[in-house]
Amino acid sequence: MTSITIKQPDDWHLHVRDGDALADILKETTRCFARAIIMPNLKPPVTTTELALAYRDRIMAAIPVETLQSTGFTPLMTLYLTDNTDPAEIKKAKQTSAIHAVKYYPAGATTNSDSGVTNIKYTYKVLEQLSEHGMPLLVHGEVTDLDVDVFDREKVFIDKVLSPLVKDFPELRIVFEHITTKYAVDFVKAAPANIGATITPHHLLYNRNAMFKGGIRPHYYCLPILKHEQHRQSLIAAATSGDAKYFLGTDSAPHSIASKESSCGCAGIYNAPVAIELYAYIFEQAGALDKLEGFASIHGANFYQLPVNEKSITLEKSEWQVPEKLPLGNETISPLCAGEKVSWRVTS
Ligand code: NCD
Ligand code: ZN
Repeated sequence: MTSITIKQPDDWHLHVRDGDALADILKETTRCFARAIIMPNLKPPVTTTELALAYRDRIMAAIPVETLQSTGFTPLMTLYLTDNTDPAEIKKAKQTSAIHAVKYYPAGATTNSDSGVTNIKYTYKVLEQLSEHGMPLLVHGEVTDLDVDVFDREKVFIDKVLSPLVKDFPELRIVFEHITTKYAVDFVKAAPANIGATITPHHLLYNRNAMFKGGIRPHYYCLPILKHEQHRQSLIAAATSGDAKYFLGTDSAPHSIASKESSCGCAGIYNAPVAIELYAYIFEQAGALDKLEGFASIHGANFYQLPVNEKSITLEKSEWQVPEKLPLGNETISPLCAGEKVSWRVTS
């Protein structure tokens, strides 16, 4: 197959940051995605309805009017869960129709997660409200104990936090975000239909060797960290299976070159400039291009109880070279596959 047309995809996990960099970052996602779930881990975090609506306005203002008209791009906002989130905030958020989920970061798990949850039990009143109002909880599924090996944090989280949580809130819709292991794939597969998972292009494309090829490569460092090849194979099987529980979430997480190439480099991979193209490549390699539309454009919409997009996009097999660097406000950023050739291209 040399070309494929699918319903316009959505990105169910995206970081677009704020301020000067917003316009540059949004330009990449609005090339092809119709909607995106916007992560709330700003500094300070987006913890209330008011903050989320103001952030939404800044996002809309950073997208050119022509782009909004041609793509109808809609940011789907989220709230950042803390130990002190007011349970009444959920009803308020739901009533706006602009806020679609609440994000649970275990405190200290990743970039800008210092205000995250220290013990999920502290948030049970909020989770009751989420369950009641049918709003999904998005989970960064890693424990933060420094004595747990960084490669085991997802597995330990499933055993210690997620399994009990699913039992305590059987009706709650939960998205296990950016899954990286066979353990997570198996957990989601065995769970009821109210549990879904997003999978990133980088966890489908690379194993942990990518971080150390010929030296230390900070642009492959993200959280959850890249894993062993056997886990990558499980993720490919899950994504390309056609199972409606797995859907597209890029976790595109931009950081400037200066903040990545440092003695304490930030976690996060900027894949928005190549994301849908890489997913197409991965599905092609797995002999499952016919399953791409479900994963990219249908399963997520169904999970979030939103309509599937009406427009379509076309990807063609035609090589192009990813730029070495891209602008990021007054800084620069290195996209995933910088300087490399990518085999699929969005043509319309
Ligand atoms: C994300 C970021 O930079 O905001 N980083 C990452 O490595 N994925 C945070 C996150 O989603 O964990
Ligand atoms: Zn993320």
